[in-house]
Amino acid sequence: MVKLESSCDKYPRVLERILSDADVEHFKHLFAELTEKEWLQREAQAKAAGTQAPPRRLTYFSLMKRLQSTPRDERLVAILEKICKRVDSVFGPGFVIAQDFWSWRAPDAVAAERVHMDADFWMTGATDGFNLWFLLDHKDMAHSFDIYTKEENPELYKSVQLPHRPTSLIPLQGMKNPGSSPCFLYWEPLRFWPVLFEGSSALARDFGMVFSILSTWWLQKALVCARAAHRRLPFSVFRVLMALTGWLGNLALLPRGIELRTRKFPMSVGDALVVRQDELHVSDQDRLEDGQFRLAVGLKFMNQHHKVWKYPFLGPAGKSRRQYPALRLPWGRSLKDVYRQHGLDMSTYPESWLRGLFASFSFRQA
Ligand SMILES: [Fe+2]
Repeated sequence: MVKLESSCDKYPRVLERILSDADVEHFKHLFAELTEKEWLQREAQAKAAGTQAPPRRLTYFSLMKRLQSTPRDERLVAILEKICKRVDSVFGPGFVIAQDFWSWRAPDAVAAERVHMDADFWMTGATDGFNLWFLLDHKDMAHSFDIYTKEENPELYKSVQLPHRPTSLIPLQGMKNPGSSPCFLYWEPLRFWPVLFEGSSALARDFGMVFSILSTWWLQKALVCARAAHRRLPFSVFRVLMALTGWLGNLALLPRGIELRTRKFPMSVGDALVVRQDELHVSDQDRLEDGQFRLAVGLKFMNQHHKVWKYPFLGPAGKSRRQYPALRLPWGRSLKDVYRQHGLDMSTYPESWLRGLFASFSFRQA
């Protein structure tokens, strides 16, 4: 019997009007100051150089940095306190903010291209984590992104083997909508060795980077090989091959014939979508019209009752976290409540040539 239940199954879908109009205006002001300005500068520089600007992807930890600046942003402190109080009353005690991120969707900007679960949740082994994703502004997009709900996709989640595997869906052919093509299930790697990143030794961190690069290279190659095998082999042979060797690349085949259903939850500005830890999600797959956009800010909540025992190391959130000594993860201990602290040193690790190499290395779908 496949176990499908998780601790987050009964969480509400949307918390209505958790932010006041003034709260929303403050977040929009912070977005313009902390993130949009940088994006616009980057895009102007790329235009001047005749190159393509990097895409506007999810941006992490800018609120964390803002909280540590002097004079303190008391308005932001008060808003986060209000949110945490609401979280206490709805979800129970012990939850702390583990990450913040900006989410921007427009015709030329997709925050998260891959159908995924957030791997960071699984570093404690529990399944009671959630994101609150606050809608701040939009044009004709009064809804969430796409969620593969458990209740509408029971066959999918039987294959995913919940509750202890953070999973992504990768289409077998190109970047087609996974709902219309066969998929790989890809399990985000959780390892013990990224603890190397969390010590104070520069040498250990450099070793951590080398392992990350090798591991990422291997997983990319495995995906390329699996796709090539799919193109060249009869499907029956390919299926047997995947069953025998897919685990080497954290890959398996999603059985054919499973219909994938997504849902967008209607939202108003100031509402918070509750993203459950073990539900797959992705930026809206729809083609947007010129002028359509949506701005949101996200907070990841995890419970301090659990201990950190495995580290995700891929993905933009982990990479951002590893820039700052103040955000080292507490191996074998509870997550720190860093969003309620002030005066943390948010300077980055000293530069090394290996770090530069690592920064330029990203896990891209082949
Ligand atoms: Fe996500």
